[in-house]
Amino acid sequence: MTPIQNCLINNKTTNTPIWLMRQAGRYLPEFRKIRKLNPNFINLCLNEELSAEITLQPLKRFNLDAAIIFSDILMLPYALNQSVEFKKNFGPELGYLDLETISKIEEIDFIKKLHPVYKSINKVSKNNLLKNKDLIGFVGAPWTLLVYMINRHSPKKKLFKDFFKDKFLINKILLILEKFLKVHINQQIKNGATVIQIFDSWAGLLEDKDLPNYIYIPTLNLVNYIKSLNIPVICFPKGIKNYKTFCQIVKPSAINIDYNIDPISIFEKIEIPIQGGLNPKILLSNRENLKKEALRYLNIFKDRPYIFNLGHGVIPETDPAMVEYLVKLVKDY
Ligand code: CP3
Repeated sequence: MTPIQNCLINNKTTNTPIWLMRQAGRYLPEFRKIRKLNPNFINLCLNEELSAEITLQPLKRFNLDAAIIFSDILMLPYALNQSVEFKKNFGPELGYLDLETISKIEEIDFIKKLHPVYKSINKVSKNNLLKNKDLIGFVGAPWTLLVYMINRHSPKKKLFKDFFKDKFLINKILLILEKFLKVHINQQIKNGATVIQIFDSWAGLLEDKDLPNYIYIPTLNLVNYIKSLNIPVICFPKGIKNYKTFCQIVKPSAINIDYNIDPISIFEKIEIPIQGGLNPKILLSNRENLKKEALRYLNIFKDRPYIFNLGHGVIPETDPAMVEYLVKLVKDY
């Protein structure tokens, strides 16, 4: 059994495994080289050879316990025929959301559109670099995808005033998302993903009263589906104020915590396996500080099933040597 599976399934507490969100990306010169030649990000995700190569880039450098497929949560709206573009220094921009168009999508056409993603996963899963390691597939949570589909770009700090006005539209989209997220998850698993992570990057935008409708219920449906396929599932409801209630209701195999939450309070309140927490900005400081902060998480969770990771993705300005130092530090702990 892989170190990550051992932690997630057997609740093993020794030899803390490590992987990092956005471990493949702009901080790596070998990624930037490929990216420069491929200005269209969606097309790059749909290039099975290059996306497989990018997925493996961090494993060639560092002793990580998992690869995460090089793709994006917004490949799902893309496959539902809502256009998606990534603009330099702006982030994603989605096209007009036409309910009629996205209601018409057939499962077979959806799978066809994302076929290169699944082929890339299949290819990576057979690579020797993944021996005794996991291949992490992922999706955006229904809530975060809904935010992007309606808002059509990153919402920064809050939602626009009339976001919830068209309840009919919102409920229809949530149903469509549930159906196709299950298809997307199933295809990733069939092609070799051994763990699924659900990214809910905008969980922190909701008030408590809206959590059941938009987060707990839709995420629980996905978690139960993934568990029914005998695959562990990690949830990352970034910025949610109450991780404990989320875990009690949704019951994922593990919970990824963000960098704003005090790890000691998590240690005291949550019993399921924990992942992540370290502020990615610490990787921009110096080795001494990185060591101190990484050891804080390692020491707090030393008698718990813990997967080392960050509280959000690696920042593009990060020096790869700092990542190497961190991975070694965790492995030698
Ligand atoms: O973690 C990994 O290494 C796997 C690949 C991965 C990407 N996106 C590649 C990517 C994963 C897991 C994601 C998830 C994702 N995408 C999330 C959830 C996690 C989070 O960051 O909160 C979200 C919200 C998105 C949507 C998205 N994609 C945004 C907001 C942006 C622009 C911001 C930015 O960093 O440029 C992206 C682009 C993106 N996705 C890049 C990468 C490597 C950068 C693209 C580039 O090279 O220009």
